[in-house]
Amino acid sequence: MPEPQLIVVMGVSGSGKTTLAEGLSQRLHWAFQEGDSLHPAANVEKMSRGEPLTDEDRWPWLDALGGWLDERARAGTSAVLTCSALRRSYRDRLRDGRPGVRFCHVVAPADAIRDRVESRRGHYMPASLLPSQLATLESLEPDEPGVTVCAEGDPEAVLDDALRRLGLSSGEVSV
Ligand SMILES: Nc1ncnc2c1ncn2[C@@H]1O[C@H](COP(=O)(O)OP(=O)(O)OP(=O)(O)O)[C@@H](O)[C@H]1O
Ligand SMILES: [Mg+2]
Repeated sequence: MPEPQLIVVMGVSGSGKTTLAEGLSQRLHWAFQEGDSLHPAANVEKMSRGEPLTDEDRWPWLDALGGWLDERARAGTSAVLTCSALRRSYRDRLRDGRPGVRFCHVVAPADAIRDRVESRRGHYMPASLLPSQLATLESLEPDEPGVTVCAEGDPEAVLDDALRRLGLSSGEVSV
């Protein structure tokens, strides 16, 4: 039986993580988790006030995400998780003890992200956080497992590109 695959779809708010991760999970029939849904309530309140989170706020959240990945792996189920994972240290925390985790970094031009976030409704992440997110972002380093996908154009084409880069194009046996 193949090892379950664990993909963390990362990137700044509004880059297109949820859109791509949902597409991956539907196409591959993998488990899906919105990482933001596992934030402690205090973090959600802070973000809705437009306040950036501190690292102290983030560690328990990242550990909850890691716990979710561990449960999927124990169940033998491949899975896709969204998590901004902007800093190398956050990604290292997610990978710690989980050698199968790979990242899919979603990138898009800043103007496009701003337009997307401003026109989005029913979402607690205000566009005012974008500059600090971009300043915080540390792109994937060569020794980190993962790929980078540009989320410009038709979301279905972005999904196909991500699948190809991840080596998961249609036809691949999925767990
Ligand atoms: N390829 C694309 N082309 C055009 N619009 C897109 C594309 N991908 C996503 N969007 C739109 O951009 C907005 C942000 O996308 P999405 O919610 O997937 O981003 P996100 O990275 O999950 O953001 P957050 O971190 O705030 O949850 C949504 O309204 C989505 O429909
Ligand atoms: Mg999202």
